[in-house]
Amino acid sequence: MSASLDLAAFPADFAWGTATSAYQIEGAVAEDGRAPSIWDTFSHTPGKVAGDDHGDVACDHYHRWPEDIALMKRLGTDAYRMSVAWPRVMPAGNGPVNAAGLDFYDRLVDALLDAGITPNITLYHWDLPQVLQDRGGWTVRDTAEHLAAYASVVAARLGDRVTRWATLNEPLCSGWIGHLEGRMAPGLTDLTAAVHASYHLLLAHGLTTQAVRAAAPGAQIGLVTNHSTVEPASTRPEDIAAATRLDGHTNRWWLDPVYGRGFPADMRELYGVELPERPGDLDTIATPLDWHGLNYYFPATVTDDPRGPVPYAREVRLPDAPHTGMDWPIDAGGLESLLLRLTDDYGVRELYVTENGSAFPDTVSPDGAVHDPGRTRYLEEHVSACARAVRKGAPLAGYYVWSLLDNFEWAYGYDKRFGLVHVDYATQTRTLKTSGLRYAEIIRAHRESHA
Ligand code: IFM
Repeated sequence: MSASLDLAAFPADFAWGTATSAYQIEGAVAEDGRAPSIWDTFSHTPGKVAGDDHGDVACDHYHRWPEDIALMKRLGTDAYRMSVAWPRVMPAGNGPVNAAGLDFYDRLVDALLDAGITPNITLYHWDLPQVLQDRGGWTVRDTAEHLAAYASVVAARLGDRVTRWATLNEPLCSGWIGHLEGRMAPGLTDLTAAVHASYHLLLAHGLTTQAVRAAAPGAQIGLVTNHSTVEPASTRPEDIAAATRLDGHTNRWWLDPVYGRGFPADMRELYGVELPERPGDLDTIATPLDWHGLNYYFPATVTDDPRGPVPYAREVRLPDAPHTGMDWPIDAGGLESLLLRLTDDYGVRELYVTENGSAFPDTVSPDGAVHDPGRTRYLEEHVSACARAVRKGAPLAGYYVWSLLDNFEWAYGYDKRFGLVHVDYATQTRTLKTSGLRYAEIIRAHRESHA
């Protein structure tokens, strides 16, 4: 079974993990001093989230974390990527620290370490304190400075035990989906706001990298970005140009400035929005990183769409391609090529797949099991793609499945299940899916390959 996976390609100390984020699993939104975030506001606005679902209870991880760590132990993972909720730690967005909020993460980190699981902490996974949104959110520069200040408090408290930190998760989603497409909090559809938000998010990333290093010497700091490979739907020059634009919008806009190339000129021209740039900002954004986290789910095939929204490139559905329950096309080759692009074009020296996974409409069978062959296949194909990238020179040091648990899938609510563990939201019963059992087997087989 595992013979078909080239697990020996991965180094002996390769980290196998799972990933989650605070708002998607914690619940307890009004407990122990937590203040509302933009996602509390957005999800409680009728019509914004499928089924009007929200994260009030989610997976109740805030109370059930010992059980969730026990599940990680059953999987045999050695790492766990989680996020800290800014509105739990600093409910006013800046200034006073909420000790109870910080204590929660302190306990969680200790319990993970006791279980032999290395925490990898993301400081911002989309849950901006609402009070900061009321002052302009990511469209204003202050928010970037506030993130760095909050991050420095978290790093000072946990940095004696946590080494691996990420500043932001998927700034593309905060910037473009939250401010241009309106499908995520704060739900704006304004190009100028979106471009300014994207700028301040990347500035926040640079400032936070520096703040965490100052607060926790020895910290290994990275950025987590999501990308897709982009192919034109035909050989028409218009489609090829559309693919270049979507590549700029999805990939280059978020990578070029971080790797010292500045914001891509073709995209600046396309957006036609002046950047809120101050001297020194580009250097801050390009502060050297210790590692890069790639989140990969699907490739994009595009056609020119001159009357559509920026960047005038529409994704087309390939009828013959397999798709997940999100209707996302499945192509593990995209993961391989993005890992190699980060290695060869951007010179990344340490890489992680910080998220990769698939949603399918899982149910608990009468035999009590959750059979999810689609997710199992997706997992095997993408682990194989990672092995191929490693053989070709990608410095891949770990792989995190999205997600440990079924959870609150943002605007899709609870219908879309990404977990290796099924969650019955009515009873909070957790059931390891067959994909989870397969992941445990892969991890074991990799260890044996180095024994
Ligand atoms: O659930 C999200 C996660 O929060 C960020 N990356 C993509 C996942 C699946 O959509």
